[in-house]
Amino acid sequence: MCGIVGCLGFKNPREYVLNGLKTLDYRGYDSAGVAYYNDGIHIYKDVGAVEHLMELVPNDIKTDIMIGHTRWATHGVPNVANTHPHISNHKKICLVHNGVIENYEDIKKMLLEKHYEFYGDTDSEIVANLIEYYYLRENDILGSLKECMSILKGSYALAIICSDYTDHMYIMKNGSPLIIGKGEGFNLVASDASPMIKYTENYIELNDQEYGRISKDDVEIFDKYGQKVIKQYIKKDIESISHDLKGYPHYMLKEIEEVPQTVKRILDTYTKDGKYCFDEKLINRLKESDHIMFIACGTSYHSSLVGGRYFEHSNKSTSKYIASEWAFDPVFPGNKPFIILISQSGETADLIHCLKIIKENNLESLILTNTGGSTLDRNCTYSILLNAGIEVSVASTKAYVAQVTVLCLLAAAIVDDYQAIKDLYSVLPLIDEIQNSYKPKIMEIARAIKNKEHLFYLGRSFDYFLSMEASLKLKEVSYIHSEAIPGGELKHGPIALIEQDTPVIVFITDHHTALSMRGNIKEVEARGAKVYVISTERNAKESDNIVVKNYPFYLSSVVVSSIAFYLAYYVTIEKGYNVDKPRNLAKSVTVE
Ligand code: F6R
Repeated sequence: MCGIVGCLGFKNPREYVLNGLKTLDYRGYDSAGVAYYNDGIHIYKDVGAVEHLMELVPNDIKTDIMIGHTRWATHGVPNVANTHPHISNHKKICLVHNGVIENYEDIKKMLLEKHYEFYGDTDSEIVANLIEYYYLRENDILGSLKECMSILKGSYALAIICSDYTDHMYIMKNGSPLIIGKGEGFNLVASDASPMIKYTENYIELNDQEYGRISKDDVEIFDKYGQKVIKQYIKKDIESISHDLKGYPHYMLKEIEEVPQTVKRILDTYTKDGKYCFDEKLINRLKESDHIMFIACGTSYHSSLVGGRYFEHSNKSTSKYIASEWAFDPVFPGNKPFIILISQSGETADLIHCLKIIKENNLESLILTNTGGSTLDRNCTYSILLNAGIEVSVASTKAYVAQVTVLCLLAAAIVDDYQAIKDLYSVLPLIDEIQNSYKPKIMEIARAIKNKEHLFYLGRSFDYFLSMEASLKLKEVSYIHSEAIPGGELKHGPIALIEQDTPVIVFITDHHTALSMRGNIKEVEARGAKVYVISTERNAKESDNIVVKNYPFYLSSVVVSSIAFYLAYYVTIEKGYNVDKPRNLAKSVTVE
């Protein structure tokens, strides 16, 4: 959600900035723009794709400093005036901004009183003018950044050009990610490392409430008191952040097919010789606590439902909360709660808000994230990395399986149950088999449902949790309205929606619930539903559409989720939609 790129002293700034924006486009955006300095600040921006922007930006740019931005509209509709970069009234400050300024209305009022004018509706334009206002007053650009930092409330990553000091780029960060890539005679900035991996291996990650000044050879970072901060360079694992499609037509397909290696990598990282290798202090904290709380959003929330059940089977009471709900009425059940946050991106604003509340209450937290160095990774007490490799497709697939896998191991580790390790290793060949041999059957279902407007997923217990994820995946990429219903709840309301030919997709992979699920199938068939059954051999009937070999029933979100993901993928491909970038959605949801 919004992406920043910028460079100083780079030999081909146009290429870096525009290709960088393309690399970041998986984050989601609806307009894009660039600015550079050459005898004045030049800005090109428009609504629509980066490819369109590429046509607007001259090929023969000569500049040492350039910034670019993809905007996902929050304050103000997607139009040219609201598109970044924004330039201040006296043309001293030009900037790109990620994040949301909470007190922008107060600042705007103050600036209006000083006769500043505004041309769009964004909070970002106000920041550009605020920096300029202090800069012109004190004639000190770094001082004005420090002053602004003390005033701005909310989240921001800013890359700034000051027309009086064009051999420097200025940066500022709070709550939104910003990374510097150090090169030989040049420096790069971006929201994440992916646009820079071709050019450098050395990165500096900014902490919240830091600002700085970058030249082509130097990086100076300051804390909010204006004290210089010594930063260490970090290396990134290129393979894990590369956007190479590796011959696949879409990221979603590639990422589904990376599920087996993801599960294997987690087993190899967090277990050794049949024993667990988690941080001992963390395991003790989990053991000591009398209640485990989970907080997450979307797909990550769905994995918390599965993980929560695992912890309940390890004799822990649990509660699972949607971050945006919990934040407005925070409760801490139990006497000694321990909080697990789950976030693929590690940058989800709703969850960052929750972490702030958790910290205010002096409680510890664990983040499960796929993004090392992300805001949540750096600010939670404990962190477990999913090591799933970058997920580019907006729809989360391998990260969901990774979350469930880690939670399964963690819940087993606190009761010294080693069977989970064996069970997870045992399902690896089965996931491979599903991926290698079941696609034709899944495509058949995809073709049968692709023109439907509504459909339902049914399941109970672990199959219900899986149904919720299957349903979210299908609706977000194929735009078919879909709902997941626990089998037993049908007759309490939703069955009223079943009519002739309504598609109902049923998971029956759990022998505890299989008989009841067969009863549910009868109920919906009696109302004309067209039922598609995905079962395991032990629970199968001849008419079932897909029958998978038996596996430990509690692992359906690890094993059968691939079927759900493929189904969403193939329906979307059949419909001709952009499967990796569904409308209105962003990969990293950095606004509340
Ligand atoms: C759906 C999906 C979203 C995310 C949600 C939370 O496929 O990806 O529902 O799961 O936006 O994002 P993270 O996990 O990054 O906090």
